[in-house]
Parts: sequence; C-alpha cells; structure tokens
Amino acid sequence: MVLDRHAPVGVFDSGVGGLTVVREIMRNLPNERIVYFGDTARVPYGSKSKDTVVRYSRQIVRFLQTQKVKTIVVACNTASALALDVIEKEVDIPILGVVIPGAHVAAKTTSNNRIGVIATESTIRSNLYPTLIQRENPEITVFGKACPLFVPLVEEGWTKDPVTYEVARRYLDELLEKDIDTLIMGCTHYPLLRSLLREVVGEKVALVNPAYETAWVLSRLLSELELENPDIYWERQECDDEKYKFFSSDAVDRFNLFANSVLPYEIKSTTLVQIDEF
Ligand code: DGL
Repeated sequence: MVLDRHAPVGVFDSGVGGLTVVREIMRNLPNERIVYFGDTARVPYGSKSKDTVVRYSRQIVRFLQTQKVKTIVVACNTASALALDVIEKEVDIPILGVVIPGAHVAAKTTSNNRIGVIATESTIRSNLYPTLIQRENPEITVFGKACPLFVPLVEEGWTKDPVTYEVARRYLDELLEKDIDTLIMGCTHYPLLRSLLREVVGEKVALVNPAYETAWVLSRLLSELELENPDIYWERQECDDEKYKFFSSDAVDRFNLFANSVLPYEIKSTTLVQIDEF
C-alpha cells in the first residue's frame, strides 16, 4: 500500500489523556497534520477487559482510517498494553503505542535498577512494562501500582488540589519505600499531574513521560518510511482546521475546553463521532 506523505497522523486515547502525546508531536514534528480521537463516551478504559479495549480500539482505528491517516499513535497506555498486539496485525499502516517507548526510556534512566510504574489497573495487570523492561535489562526490578483515582481527578481539573496531593501520597508511599529512582507515568493522563507528583516523590526520583520518546519514535518511523510531511507552509504552526482535527465520542464542548488548557494552540472546535457505527 502506498501511503501519502501529506496525510495526517492519527492519534487516539480513551479521552483527553492522549492530548499530552499530541502536545509532544506538535512540538517535535511541527510539519505533521494530526487527527485526534478521544473516546470520551466510554472512558475509562483502565478498568475494562482486554476484549472490550480491543473492540473499542478496533472501532477507533476504523474511524481514523476513514480520515486517511498515514500512521496511528495509540496515545493510551491501556490500549497500548491490551490491544496493540492484536490491532497491529489487522492494519496495513504503521501503528505504534506508548508503552514500548516508555519502558525503553525508563530502563535507560535508572541507576539503581529499581523502577516504579503508576498506571491504570488494566495496564498494571497486563504486566507489559515489567516484561519489556526486564527484556532490556534483567537486573532491573519493577514495582507497579494502579492509581485508579488519578484519571477522574485529572478529568475534573484537580491537578493541583490538596485532595489529589493526599491521594498521590497514599499511592506513592508504597513505591518510595521500595527505593525507586525512576517513576514511569504509565497513563497518558498522569503527565498533567507532573508538578504534584514531583512534590510527592522529591527531586531524586526521575519522572518518565513516555510521550516524549513516543514523539521521537514517530519521527524516526516517518523518516525511515519517507513519510514525513514535506509541506513547509506548515511552519506557520497555526492551529487551523486543516492541520489539526479533533473528534470525540461525547461532550465535545467539554473536550474542547480541556484541549485548550493542554495544547499550545487554540483549537476551534471538536466534532462528535458516533463511534459505535464503525
Ligand atoms: N489514558 C488512559 C491510559 O493511558 C487512561 C484513562 C482510562 O482509564 O481510560 O491508560
């Protein structure tokens, strides 16, 4: 299949968390067009079964393909952990997730070989982060902790609230007792809590945001496949409707508001998609 270099990159998440990945793609690949889908009607994925997350991801991939995307970024740790291995065999365009890049960076970052991972219940249960990290370096011990309250707190906008701080203390104390020197923010919502997490873990623990490495992996992939968008007029970097398109399965106004608090450009509108139809 011949892919069009001018086509957009498709990005999806269960909701708004994947916008932290979009932010890095916008910064690092300023020529690329993006089509983003947030499954706000069915969030959270983090407590759902593999079968359900695969079914949802399949529908989203079908939708993104109607947008003629040249590649897909699964900007959701849960979908990357539970669905990517199935979906990648079904599509004929490149598709990448956030877990492999995040695991790789963490394995390179730790000095004492003790890494913590915070993520949704399903991502922790999948055991994918420990598996990938130990494949890179069997000396590393990985401690996982599911933090199910973080997603609703972020969605509520309580990213600097004392209540969230207290919740974070409760979750992270257990990992800090294990003497970790690296902590993976293994859910795309969590980088929005970065400053609060920094306060809780202190300066000595490195915080890994898989979104940075994911943007680099995407950049390398597009370059290897000669799929980089050559259009230099995108240098204007305006968030015009042609360059960046946003879709969600529910509450588009709320999504739009949230997106404008996360992204470097003002997005004008988000379009509703009946994702069950795909
Ligand atoms: N953004 C999702 C992830 O990275 C978490 C939100 C959810 O539970 O759907 O895992």
